[in-house]
Amino acid sequence: MAALKDQLIQHLIKEEQTPQNKITVVGVGAVGMACAISILMKELADESALVDVIEDKLKGEMMDLQHGSLFLRAPKVFSGKDYSATANSKLVIITAGARQQEGESHLNLVQCNVNIFKVIIPNVVKYSPNCKFLIVSNPVDILTYAACKISGFPKNRVIGSGCNLDSARFCYLTGERLGVHPISCHGWVLGEHGDSSVPVWSGVNVAGVSLKNLHPELGSDADKEHWKECRYTLGDPKRAAILKSYNVVSLTV
Ligand SMILES: NC(=O)c1ccc[n+]([C@@H]2O[C@H](COP(=O)([O-])OP(=O)(O)OC[C@H]3O[C@@H](n4cnc5c(N)ncnc54)[C@H](O)[C@@H]3O)[C@@H](O)[C@H]2O)c1
Repeated sequence: MAALKDQLIQHLIKEEQTPQNKITVVGVGAVGMACAISILMKELADESALVDVIEDKLKGEMMDLQHGSLFLRAPKVFSGKDYSATANSKLVIITAGARQQEGESHLNLVQCNVNIFKVIIPNVVKYSPNCKFLIVSNPVDILTYAACKISGFPKNRVIGSGCNLDSARFCYLTGERLGVHPISCHGWVLGEHGDSSVPVWSGVNVAGVSLKNLHPELGSDADKEHWKECRYTLGDPKRAAILKSYNVVSLTV
């Protein structure tokens, strides 16, 4: 008697084995899982893989996504400490990294995360030599540069998340003040991601109407409406002191 599966499913054309749109997330912390769930919700991938060094956490996160397949229309989801799970990825998002420890210098954290990247990047490249990288781990701009150097990929295949988060927060806070949905608020924060980034006040507009034209003091110290507060900073005094020690100056454009 043939097995149940063989009785139920017969004469199928052999499935295409190579995924066309595989997305891998390396690092399944809060940020990595937010990325993975967003990818599945938006149906961006036909296969996805998760990698982390903490095996039980990794397995748990993978199972949660797999078990949610009914609601998420999730494609195949794999995971592994071993990078073979990531083979044939089109996009690899790196959110892995060590956390800054109490009293640890910024420089030390950078070195620690560069060392982590020296393991991650060559492993990804080995299994997905044609992928694109999206770097999210902090300090994101430095690590994006490191990923570019370590991978040997051309610049257009190693993208950092840069100030996207800063810009999104800026638009949200501007919209909140105006009672306008952030989707209609346009503004960019430029520079290195973090407290030294710079809001471009001259470009801020709501549906094309320049806020600086309406309120010339926008974002300046003379601004009685304190629009500067829309430029969200982490406000960590230790972080500010480190940036100061790097001679990073905050500018108003
Ligand atoms: N660019 C941005 O806008 C932005 C925004 C928020 C957070 N971040 C950064 O994203 C990173 C992740 O944040 P989080 O809150 O998810 O941190 P987290 O500590 O929760 O997660 C980090 C994960 O990386 C894993 N990891 C560590 N070393 C690894 C290795 N060698 N290989 C694979 N996985 C490894 C850890 O096990 C952990 O699960 C941090 O560096 C954070 O600063 C960037």
